[in-house]
Amino acid sequence: MKFYLTTPLYYVNAAPHIGHTYTTLAADAIKRFHILKGDQVFLTTGTDEHGQKVERSAAAAGKSPEAFSDAVAGEFRRQWDTLGIPYDAFIRTTDPKHHKTVQWLFQRCMDNGYIYKGSYTGQYCVFDELYVNDAKPGDNCPDCGRPTETVTEENYFFKLSAFADRLLAHYEQNPKFIQPDTKRNEVLSFVRGGLNDLSISRSNLRWGIPLPVEGHHVFYVWFDALIGYMSAVSDTDLWPADLHLVGKEIVRFHAIFWPAFLMAAELPLPKQIFAHGWLLFENDKMSKSRGNIVRAEPIREVMGFDALRYFLLREIVFGQDGSFSYDALIGRYNSELANGLGNLVSRTLTMVNQYRGGIIPAGSDPAIAAKAAQATKAALDHYEAFEFSKALESVWQLLSAVDGFIVEQAPWKLARSEDPGAAEQLNNTLATAAETLRVACVILSPVLPESTAKIWAQLGMTSPLGATRVADLAWGSTLSGQKIGDISGVFPRIDLKEAVGKMRLLEEKVSAEQRLLLGKPEEEISANPASGQVQPPSPKIAFEDFAKVDLRVGMVLSAERVKGSDKLLHLKVDIAEPEPRTIVAGIALAYTPEQLLGRRVIIVANLEPRKLRGIQSDGMIVAASLEGETPVLAGFTEDVPAGARLK
Ligand code: MSP
Repeated sequence: MKFYLTTPLYYVNAAPHIGHTYTTLAADAIKRFHILKGDQVFLTTGTDEHGQKVERSAAAAGKSPEAFSDAVAGEFRRQWDTLGIPYDAFIRTTDPKHHKTVQWLFQRCMDNGYIYKGSYTGQYCVFDELYVNDAKPGDNCPDCGRPTETVTEENYFFKLSAFADRLLAHYEQNPKFIQPDTKRNEVLSFVRGGLNDLSISRSNLRWGIPLPVEGHHVFYVWFDALIGYMSAVSDTDLWPADLHLVGKEIVRFHAIFWPAFLMAAELPLPKQIFAHGWLLFENDKMSKSRGNIVRAEPIREVMGFDALRYFLLREIVFGQDGSFSYDALIGRYNSELANGLGNLVSRTLTMVNQYRGGIIPAGSDPAIAAKAAQATKAALDHYEAFEFSKALESVWQLLSAVDGFIVEQAPWKLARSEDPGAAEQLNNTLATAAETLRVACVILSPVLPESTAKIWAQLGMTSPLGATRVADLAWGSTLSGQKIGDISGVFPRIDLKEAVGKMRLLEEKVSAEQRLLLGKPEEEISANPASGQVQPPSPKIAFEDFAKVDLRVGMVLSAERVKGSDKLLHLKVDIAEPEPRTIVAGIALAYTPEQLLGRRVIIVANLEPRKLRGIQSDGMIVAASLEGETPVLAGFTEDVPAGARLK
């Protein structure tokens, strides 16, 4: 069967971060699961490049929207390539093939009488690319809290209001159309509340796809972008999509607008929309504006990408919000991958080498075989229902049953025993453990493609793991007589402090690279030469006086804007004390919170605490401050540990 799935087409006004990676890696796991089932799978990802938000980001970066989009779209592609997430199509909404599809679909809607020209005055949220009904001038956007702008436009409207009943009927007849149920219910009650017609053109914008009927109008980004799922496969017979995987904040666009556009154009609807939750960082949504972004690449470099795939899919109930933290990531890695799966692999294979000359013997324990069959069925059912965490849990139950079985059988004793049945019992034990690993490799391959392939090779398998299908999950004695491969650690244990240090350092590097890519070069901040404003030296002080100042290297752990102040940032800074320091610094005009994350700074650690806007600041951050210019933070080019004293 064919299975066509998509990730959202990501906006190019931000570089890829772990939130985008979360959706894309989940899509990849779903894809691999369907390959395992024998489906012909096709995955589309891509970038959403039009609209005011992108136009403004490009202008802020001093680039044309074209050059800006090229650079960021390239970065998204590179990201999936580096992480080893293969996609079958990467659609950019600036692709001429996409323009054609959008114009064609619009024309069909128009021919069917669902488009009319009207005038609109109202509030618009540039950030969300959405009109805000009921908002007055000066109101903030109810979704993102940013100020709305008043716009008056002659626009083309889509008769969304005509589709409420048909949409409701479709949801009723297809109970799994929107998943999970919590999201389905939200959409249902929204549509039951009635739908307003939707303005789908903009005349005040250049950066978009022109309407075929009136060239100086361009399409509203959401009309444009959703159609990307179709343009990506316009030269195939893959449409309709079987699954649109999205984050929860864009479920309405996918579950209401998109099917309505398709109904109006008399085209088949996607089969399912699944909305996952938000990945939070210390309980806050990870986003550029909040400045608490984590990227996947440093984690891949230090721990391997499978570690992140495993963590996100095991830790978070897919469909609900969940938190990312380095501690939890490394904690699960060490206990479940290194000590759990990794240890079982190395123990089993070392014993096969030691006791059976590297040849897997024949044998099978019926109780473990039954458990394996149970775990396999449970995992498959859970994968089918997007319950990754439960699927993994059932495999780990099997692994721990086998661990217990090995301890109980005590192969090291059997190997020395003179008992007549001992040799066969040892064969049974080793064969059972090896067969469990073979089955585990197949069932875990959608989530842990890289490491299961390594284990596969160590088991001596010669056929590629990627070619296995559900039928290969059947417990059997295919391994008997097989020579195992070279053994090497698949999940080496990781030292928490060292790994976090490395990842934070790499994070700084990657985020600096991304800043450059987005055209917000460091020079903006640091290359303002002193312009002759050198101040006269202060009166001399004794060394003892200087020594009283406790200057420390600090690492910024979090940064956010102080409400009601455009100058102040509220920072948490690690100076190797049990708790991070709270510091309120007047640097918000020079630095976004995001730029500071993971950055090394210099702190006056023994300054009397001061209260600023109700927050107690426990220290001061050192910066060059030039008359009339924004402050420039002092820092280091070499790696220095947080807490080190400056003398
Ligand atoms: N361009 C639109 C989508 C158009 S689809 C036709 C868009 N782009 S986006 O860049 O903002 O990407 C949003 C998607 O990225 C989310 O729906 C989700 O899939 C993923 N995520 C981005 N940040 C995320 C988190 N912090 N947590 C979870 N997913 C996140 O919306």
